[in-house]
Amino acid sequence: MATFAELSTKAKMPILGLGTWKSSPNKVKEAVKVAIDAGYRHIDCAYIYQNENEVGEAIQEKIQEKVVKREDLFIVSKLWCTFFERKLVKEACRKTLKDLKLDYLDVYLIHWPQGFQAGKDLFPKDDKGNNLISKETFLDAWEVMEELVDEGLVKALGVSNFNHFQIEKILNKPGLKYKPVTNQVECHPYLTLEKLIQYCHSKGITVTAYSLLGSPDRPWAKPENPSLLEDPKIKEIAARHKKSPAQVLIRFHIQRNVVVIPKSVTPERILENFQVFDFKLSDEEMATLLSFNRNWRICVPADQANLPDYPYNADY
Ligand SMILES: NC(=O)c1ccc[n+]([C@@H]2O[C@H](COP(=O)([O-])OP(=O)(O)OC[C@H]3O[C@@H](n4cnc5c(N)ncnc54)[C@H](OP(=O)(O)O)[C@@H]3O)[C@@H](O)[C@H]2O)c1
Repeated sequence: MATFAELSTKAKMPILGLGTWKSSPNKVKEAVKVAIDAGYRHIDCAYIYQNENEVGEAIQEKIQEKVVKREDLFIVSKLWCTFFERKLVKEACRKTLKDLKLDYLDVYLIHWPQGFQAGKDLFPKDDKGNNLISKETFLDAWEVMEELVDEGLVKALGVSNFNHFQIEKILNKPGLKYKPVTNQVECHPYLTLEKLIQYCHSKGITVTAYSLLGSPDRPWAKPENPSLLEDPKIKEIAARHKKSPAQVLIRFHIQRNVVVIPKSVTPERILENFQVFDFKLSDEEMATLLSFNRNWRICVPADQANLPDYPYNADY
C-alpha cells in the first residue's frame, strides 16, 4: 500500500496517484478501476481533461462494489483559468463535483496562475492570436475557493505551476484563511527544481510532480526531444534494481518526499507503476539522477511569456 505525504491540514495525501490528462474518455474509466483495484487511492483530475464524468463513473462503481469507501480515496481536481470570476469559480467546482459524482474534493488546485477571459473558449485569443487575459487574478479566485472549503465542497486548496513569488503572494494575502497544501509542478531528472521544492517544503507545502515520465504522449512531442524512459543511464539504474525506467522515475520523487502522479491507461503499466515500494535508490543513485538536470520543461506555453502571471520568468 502506498505511503502518504502529510498536508498542513494533517490530512494524508497518498504519495502515489494516477494521472488522467490525455486519458481518453473511453479508456479512463477502465484505467481508474484497474488502479483502484491495484491499491491506488489518489486520482489526479481536472476540468480541462474533459474526462471527469468517466473518472466519476469508475469511482462510483468501485464504491458500489465496496472495494473502497469515499473517505479512502483522495481526489484532486483543478480550477481552469477562464473561471477566476467569483460566480464562475463556484460553478466550475460544482460542475467538477457533479461529473466526478462526489460531494467533496480532497484538494482543489488553481490549474495555472494566469487568468484568462471567461467564455466558452478555454484558451481565448483575439483575431491576431494574442491571449485574452482576465482582470481577476489568482488571488481573487483564491478568496472564492476559500469559501468552497467553508461550504464543505473542498477539504483543502492548492496551486499548480506557481513559482515561489506567486506562492508568496498567496501566503501574504491580507485575510488569508487557508494556505495552499500542495504545488503541482512538472518535475523529473531533467527538471529537478531543488530551489522550488526546498522553498515549498520550508513553508509546509507539499510538491506534486507531473509529467514525471517525460509525458511521451504529449501532443507536441518531437522525435529529437530528450526521452527520460529511453535514457541509457536511467535504464542502467533500473537494470541494477531489476526495475523499469518508469519505476525508477517514480521512486526518485518518493525518496524526495514529493507526491507523484504517473498517467497510464494501460493496465500492465498501471500495475507496474505501483510496484515502487519494494526497492530503494541509493544516495549515490539519487545524486546521479539529480545531476541529469538541464532545466528542460515539457509544458511551456511559450506564447504566454509576456503575460503578467506567467510563472517561468522567475528563477524558481
Ligand atoms: N497541473 C498541470 O498543469 C499538469 C500538467 C501535466 C500533467 N499533469 C498531471 O500529471 C499527470 C502525469 O503527467 P503526464 O500525463 O504529462 O505524463 P507522464 O505521466 O509523464 O507520462 C504518461 C505517458 O507515459 C506512458 N507510460 C505510463 N507508464 C509507463 C510505463 N510504466 N512504461 C512506459 N510508458 C509508460 C503513458 O502511456 P499509456 O497511457 O499509453 O500507458 C503515457 O504515454 C497527468 O496525467 C495529469 O494528471 C498536470
